[in-house]
Amino acid sequence: MVFPAPPRSLDPDELLEAYPWPDEGRWVRAMMVTTLDGAAAGPDGLSGSISSTVDGDVFDSVRRLADAVLVGAGTLRAEEYGPMRAADADADRRERAGQAPAPQLVVVSGSLDLPWSLPVWAGSTLTPLVLTGPSPDPEALETAHEHATVLTLPDLEVATVLDALGARGLRRIVCEGGPSLLEAVVAADLLDEADITVSPVFAGTAKTPRTGGLDQVARFTLVHLLTAESFLMARYVRPSAA
Ligand SMILES: NC(=O)c1ccc[n+]([C@@H]2O[C@H](COP(=O)([O-])OP(=O)(O)OC[C@H]3O[C@@H](n4cnc5c(N)ncnc54)[C@H](OP(=O)(O)O)[C@@H]3O)[C@@H](O)[C@H]2O)c1
Repeated sequence: MVFPAPPRSLDPDELLEAYPWPDEGRWVRAMMVTTLDGAAAGPDGLSGSISSTVDGDVFDSVRRLADAVLVGAGTLRAEEYGPMRAADADADRRERAGQAPAPQLVVVSGSLDLPWSLPVWAGSTLTPLVLTGPSPDPEALETAHEHATVLTLPDLEVATVLDALGARGLRRIVCEGGPSLLEAVVAADLLDEADITVSPVFAGTAKTPRTGGLDQVARFTLVHLLTAESFLMARYVRPSAA
């Protein structure tokens, strides 16, 4: 059963309405794709090879009105993150909501071993933010300052990270992974929403990072299930928000 009935198409503005942000307060949503055998990356170690146009449409819609796109360093090291630029189509909506013209990339990294040649650093509308721990390597820190705004935090616990973002007015947060960071967000009980695409492929899990695991399950409630091209795009929220 598809619940509720799928839309006629995955129109970008309908998708915006299907993935709303609350008017106030912090909201942390995960945006991830998984295969039928639970892989987070294809045999090439990338998520693009298990994704599709429709998954990409949802991914883009979720980003459009976000304040921050939060990723772990592992994701940035693996994926070719392109610049995050302001889009004319979103200018009015973002201005009315008191938002900056574009989402800000936020990378959490203890090592500061990041791919500095990616166009996301210099090409994004807002300079990306890198959050690091209390005693970063001085040389790596110097390099990071050349490309990003760097915040040195007392620790990289998820609560500390989210508080640092809140202090900068970043409250609509889409966490695009990877699995290690997402697991930490869930373990800290700070995930409000899980936007999970099920890709209709088996890929094997050899290239999917092994994570530490959770002590107990974290249950979510289904809000909608969209389908196109054999992909399932599910929106789950924490039960208290359903
Ligand atoms: N299927 C999907 O939707 C999807 C989405 C994203 C990524 N991926 C795939 O997942 C892989 C990368 O995922 P990953 O799990 O290895 O890496 P990740 O979660 O993106 O990043 C882990 C890194 O983040 C930093 N970090 C800082 N604070 C952290 C915290 N509190 N908890 C966890 N990490 C913290 C550390 O960086 P330092 O090492 O610098 O200290 C850590 O090594 C790639 O293969 C990528 O293609 C798939």
